[in-house]
Amino acid sequence: MSNATTETIETLLQEARSFPPSPAFAAQANVGDPAIYDEAAKDPIAWWEGWAKQLDWFEPWHTACEFKAPNAKWFLGGKLNATYNCVDRHAAGARKNKTAIIWEGEPGDVRTYTFAELKDEVSRAANALKSLGIGKGDVVCVYMPMVPELAIVMLACARIGAPHSVVFGGFSAESLQERTNDASAKVIITADGGWRRGKVIPLKQIVDDAMTMGCPSVEKVIVLDRIGDGKANMQPGRDVWWHDLVPKQSADCPCETMESEDLLYILYTSGSTGKPKGIIHTTGGYMTGVLATSKLVFDLKENDIHFCTADCGWVTGHSYIVYGPLANGTTVLMYEGAPDTPDKDRFWRLVEKHRATILYTAPTAIRAFMKWGDEYPDRCDLSSLRLLGSVGEPINPEAWIWYQQTIGKGRCPVVDTWWQTETGAIMITPLPGTTATKPGSATRPFPGISAAVLNDEGQDLTAAWQPGQEIGGYLVIDKPWPSMTRGILNDPERFAKTYWSRFPGKYFPGDGAKMDADGYYWLLGRVDDIMLVAGHNISTMEVESALVDHPAVAEAAVIGRTHELKGQAIAAFVILRAGHESTPTLVDELKGHVAHKIGALARPDDIFISAELPKTRSGKIMRRLLRDVAEGRALGDTTTLADPAVVQALKDKYESTES
Ligand code: WT7
Repeated sequence: MSNATTETIETLLQEARSFPPSPAFAAQANVGDPAIYDEAAKDPIAWWEGWAKQLDWFEPWHTACEFKAPNAKWFLGGKLNATYNCVDRHAAGARKNKTAIIWEGEPGDVRTYTFAELKDEVSRAANALKSLGIGKGDVVCVYMPMVPELAIVMLACARIGAPHSVVFGGFSAESLQERTNDASAKVIITADGGWRRGKVIPLKQIVDDAMTMGCPSVEKVIVLDRIGDGKANMQPGRDVWWHDLVPKQSADCPCETMESEDLLYILYTSGSTGKPKGIIHTTGGYMTGVLATSKLVFDLKENDIHFCTADCGWVTGHSYIVYGPLANGTTVLMYEGAPDTPDKDRFWRLVEKHRATILYTAPTAIRAFMKWGDEYPDRCDLSSLRLLGSVGEPINPEAWIWYQQTIGKGRCPVVDTWWQTETGAIMITPLPGTTATKPGSATRPFPGISAAVLNDEGQDLTAAWQPGQEIGGYLVIDKPWPSMTRGILNDPERFAKTYWSRFPGKYFPGDGAKMDADGYYWLLGRVDDIMLVAGHNISTMEVESALVDHPAVAEAAVIGRTHELKGQAIAAFVILRAGHESTPTLVDELKGHVAHKIGALARPDDIFISAELPKTRSGKIMRRLLRDVAEGRALGDTTTLADPAVVQALKDKYESTES
């Protein structure tokens, strides 16, 4: 664990404030009694079966769970359809004319869909895919802005059993190409562009670039006209406009009958080797996990308007914009653009205008709001809010308190939710009507989830834990849960190695954790080479490879340094090839090169050109020392270095350039 992390732990654990649920909230909550934790723990499989029964199944399962690490199967023999559960069952009943999606574009355009309208739109999109020859098992790559059609496409794919692979619109052509090819996608669905801070992100252009680089499996590109600037450059025979294809389709499309273990989607996440991992989720277990967690963590009620600010390009959007809330028949609010456009009160204007009751956002955004100042939320009416959520990285107690006071006016419970792309659904979280919260702690495993903290040798410290004691080490999940990933697409070995080999038979998510005197979990960030930049996973290796790909670079070492707003910022130490000189222009070019190769989210904040890197005698780069340099700390232990003078020189030079 980095020094920075150690410091964070110490400050975190001095945090002694505790906030029990208010009697008013507890009285109306879906869960008001902590007995639920013990009930679920007594028989977790029966607990999950209880939730699975709240889905509509075409055929019941015969076996609830089959698990032999690392392979889990849930609800075997059961048949269902995810879209049927999110849309059709509501459209057929009392929620027919209830709003399913309220969407606002960055320029201010608004559209809403009732469940009945959503069913028609999804069915048309599904028939459009079918007309292009897409059927059960064919992968559809989705590279779209945050428009309602993105959710519609996901649900259309699920309707016909075609797994979707949504690629976040901030990724580069190369990242898109890599993901498209890894999944052998047959179709890419995109838009001419999307709005971000008043500018157009040229999505279709990026798809064209990816296609030029080579996506042999892709037969068709469907293009939504979002911008209408005529720059989509349609290629005859390959490209087809959404408006030429979808509206003419029939609104009648039966839901494919899916096995519980049939693939629902693929979603790529960064891996520490640099190659992204295609995380796969199947139907029955995933839907059970997101249904249960949405309902209990967000305390969903019939009249809620759930505003999750994530993009559907990330798992948070999959689970808590689309599948979880819609399976519960909840109205969701979707927003296309940036939080500071046209002004820094945009989220609060959205809450005010659409009367959002639940807000789910990320610490990086909360820190930015704090910095922008209270005037922005203070000038809006936030009285509709009743619950606040946080996700993506550890939340600093100051940010938590600010969120609770300034946004929640001390009235709304705050749920800090720990989970991952791989876990499919929230894993460690308060239950807002019964769990007392502490700023910075994700509190307790969700009912039915069994977690533990292990030491380096794999001993379970939680087993011997006594109230009043504090323990720290590696977080593991030691029992299967329905929404767990079923693996990495095309790479079972990597799946077993990455998550199941460090502590055999247990799922190791890659995070450090502490348990405090009350038995609460405090998540401490990654213990591997994954950075969390503005809540997004980026591997150090991925950025290093992008740098070394530039002709001027001989070697690169990348670290995440603590950053006030983003949590972590990318700092790169680079050795140039002979004949290249360190100039500000070259530094900018290298930053641009990384952004071009991976996407703007991976653009390094600092690039430091150096003659050498601190290495051990066996040649390993000592990142810990680079972190000390980048964070302006005294250097830690340098005795294992081949040449301790290298890092001292680096530090001196770094400090002199900084000032
Ligand atoms: C990693 C997973 C889950 C959706 C968003 C990110 C970190 C996430 C928290 C939290 C502390 C958190 C972990 C985790 N993380 N939420 N509440 N407290 N850390 O999904 O991209 O798969 O990233 O995000 O380090 O392993 P992801």
